Amino acid sequence: MNLVMIGTGYVGLTTGVGFATLGHQVACVDIDAGKIARLDLGEVPFYEPGVAEALKQVQAAGRILFTTDLKSVIDGADVIMLAVGTPPKSTGEADLSALFAAADQVGLLLDHEAVIVVKSTVPVGTNRRVLDRIRAAMKMAGREELTSLVNIVSVPEFLREGTAMRDFLQSDRLVIGADDGIAAQTVDKLHDGIKAPRVMTSIESAELIKYAANAFLATKISFINEIANLADRVGADVRDIAQGIGLDPRIGPHFLRAGIGYGGSCFPKDVSALEQLSGSHGYTFKLLSSVIEVNARQRDLFFKRLVEELGGVKGRRIAVWGLAFKPDTDDVRESAAIDIAQRLCAHGADVVAYDPKAIENAKRVLSDSVSFAPTAIDAAAGAEALVVLTEWPEFRDVSFATLKDLMLEPRVFDGRNHLADLHLSELGFTYRGVGLGSYAASRHY
Ligand SMILES: NC(=O)c1ccc[n+]([C@@H]2O[C@H](COP(=O)([O-])OP(=O)(O)OC[C@H]3O[C@@H](n4cnc5c(N)ncnc54)[C@H](O)[C@@H]3O)[C@@H](O)[C@H]2O)c1
Repeated sequence: MNLVMIGTGYVGLTTGVGFATLGHQVACVDIDAGKIARLDLGEVPFYEPGVAEALKQVQAAGRILFTTDLKSVIDGADVIMLAVGTPPKSTGEADLSALFAAADQVGLLLDHEAVIVVKSTVPVGTNRRVLDRIRAAMKMAGREELTSLVNIVSVPEFLREGTAMRDFLQSDRLVIGADDGIAAQTVDKLHDGIKAPRVMTSIESAELIKYAANAFLATKISFINEIANLADRVGADVRDIAQGIGLDPRIGPHFLRAGIGYGGSCFPKDVSALEQLSGSHGYTFKLLSSVIEVNARQRDLFFKRLVEELGGVKGRRIAVWGLAFKPDTDDVRESAAIDIAQRLCAHGADVVAYDPKAIENAKRVLSDSVSFAPTAIDAAAGAEALVVLTEWPEFRDVSFATLKDLMLEPRVFDGRNHLADLHLSELGFTYRGVGLGSYAASRHY
């Protein structure tokens, strides 16, 4: 099939390359000319394992092209997929302006039968608004008689940054929300080769499935963080509790890692958008408000303990390991690590940070007062405390015996319990995790 993918970010590029890998002819469109120029040269403008290699193969096979000009590729498109960003507004609602701008452009140019697919995460009702806008633009362009040939299908995306390529090719489910059976079949066929169970449903249900999935995962994280705070008070270890409950298949082992809470470009915005959506339909989603509150408090607690144990951070050298919102990505959007680094700076700490992939993105959002080191060891040398904020595997491979000699004070505050099983206290470090019982005897927050 001929596919036009609008938006070449983490989702649009990965899935565009994925569809080309499945044998389709894919044209990727973006308004960011710099990004398109780099992609044209085979360069992936962000860090996502496996995408560069897959891109190289489909480019060599001539199955993918990149352009800023939708007009040049829309002819003959069987499917037009919208994967532009839907970031949060200050109110928490999803900002749909990029999506609507893309829809208007499609409507002005489209002059043949096509299936429109919305891949962006959008509030219930948005797919229908997108279709209305496309049809209105077609009408404006004098093609009213063709509007009935255009249909919309909601296909929310569930890939995770860091494993996006694999998640696309080995999806655990494919949600297809449509009114029109033929449009739904076209989308099903587009995914031939992906052996995931299909959930064929209404447009509204498909839209809500995506939010419900992220809200549920965020709830698991806030739940285990509440247990962690209790574990600290009673001298229990949240890791054992997570294992003990996670072995129950009704609960499952995933998303039960206590720490400084969730971040990233999806969970915070999607949980807030779902809360907003509920409110706008006259329903107070009480559980979600608590999930959000617990997540915010988790960072506060970690930071308060850090400052209190150090007796203040002003003028103190603090090393930060990890800036990305999670490992295996360079994405720092809504990263809890960035938030903690910013708080340290605001309190006058001398912050030296290291992240294996996210330094360039972090530089754009952190003030000049943060300095960056080329390695984890360099960041920690001479520091009075080390703060671990992202669970990059390489942090576990550091020689902690060497590190202890290089630090001014061998103190580790681990916001992810990433080094908890390395028994750093036996090497002479003061080690603090989250929910490991470490604060049982000290002041409670
Ligand atoms: N990132 C994830 O892990 C993830 C996972 C599942 C779903 N989603 C959802 O997918 C959507 C995209 O997320 P992302 O992380 O890929 O965003 P992103 O910010 O990485 O990419 C969006 C891209 O769209 C482009 N764009 C904006 N307006 C455009 C227009 N009018 N025409 C063409 N291109 C345009 C931007 O230049 C950018 O390259 C969001 O709704 C997000 O919630 C993201």
